[in-house]
Amino acid sequence: MKTPVQIALIGDIHRQFNQHDVTQFNQSDYDLLLCTGDLANYWPHEGLAVARQLARLQKPTLIIPGNHDTLTAPQLLAEIKQWPRLRRWLAWGQPRRLRQWQQALGNVQVGGYSAHLVPGCDDVAVIVARPFAMGGSVLHCQPQLQRQFGISTMAESAARLCQLVDETSSQRLIFLAHNGPTGLGASRDAMWGNDFWPEAGDFGDSDLREAIEFAQQKGKTVLAVVAGHMHHHVKGGGQRPWHLEQDGVHYLNAARVPRIFGENGRIFHHHIRLSLTDDGAIVTEQRCPEK
Ligand SMILES: [Fe+2]
Ligand SMILES: [Fe+2]
Repeated sequence: MKTPVQIALIGDIHRQFNQHDVTQFNQSDYDLLLCTGDLANYWPHEGLAVARQLARLQKPTLIIPGNHDTLTAPQLLAEIKQWPRLRRWLAWGQPRRLRQWQQALGNVQVGGYSAHLVPGCDDVAVIVARPFAMGGSVLHCQPQLQRQFGISTMAESAARLCQLVDETSSQRLIFLAHNGPTGLGASRDAMWGNDFWPEAGDFGDSDLREAIEFAQQKGKTVLAVVAGHMHHHVKGGGQRPWHLEQDGVHYLNAARVPRIFGENGRIFHHHIRLSLTDDGAIVTEQRCPEK
């Protein structure tokens, strides 16, 4: 393997990706770009505009759809409220919206219950977890998951992720998810704690946690778990951690929103650098100034 392998982690985009990002990533030393999704805010056409920008990237890029991708605003509300009939009815147009989204993304690979080798590095695979996750260990977008992957319960989701882990021959794994795993704290400012509904506590995904533990039981090395969804800024004040190292695993919440921001009169663009060496991984937060 070429060392170090350089991977860029791009958190929830929410309409914040422009020409500067395209140029900067195309001219970079990155071997792979991983995106945690949420290209849009509330409307699919916003996501299509971002997708067309991402399509201009000349680096291998892998994305997991977030809960703001290919869902309409009413559908998102029906998912949050878990209204059974309405969520099914509003999911009717999602396959068509997903096709348009994929088309707009061009060569960017859309993952979901899938395993991908890191370019030039057979020993490391990226396992892409459950798309459209919204936290709280609830199987959101069940109608779409059922249609697309035959998954209709959390147990089936966990089993499918474990199966992927089992089937990949790579010894070292990176998980890419939209929302992070359970087990990293229940406070509102925990890495995947709930700040808009604090009594919900740990808002991570249990299927992802199961898959991580399964990989470790199988003797694989989980290098990193990359996700977003719970944005860094915590409602009511404060910031959640973007990086935690626990039992040798780097947990990375890449969702600095907005990822383009002004500071001291300059504009910066956020992402995280994950460098893989023979000994493990090194992570650094990147704030790239606009020239
Ligand atoms: Fe999200
Ligand atoms: Fe988000």
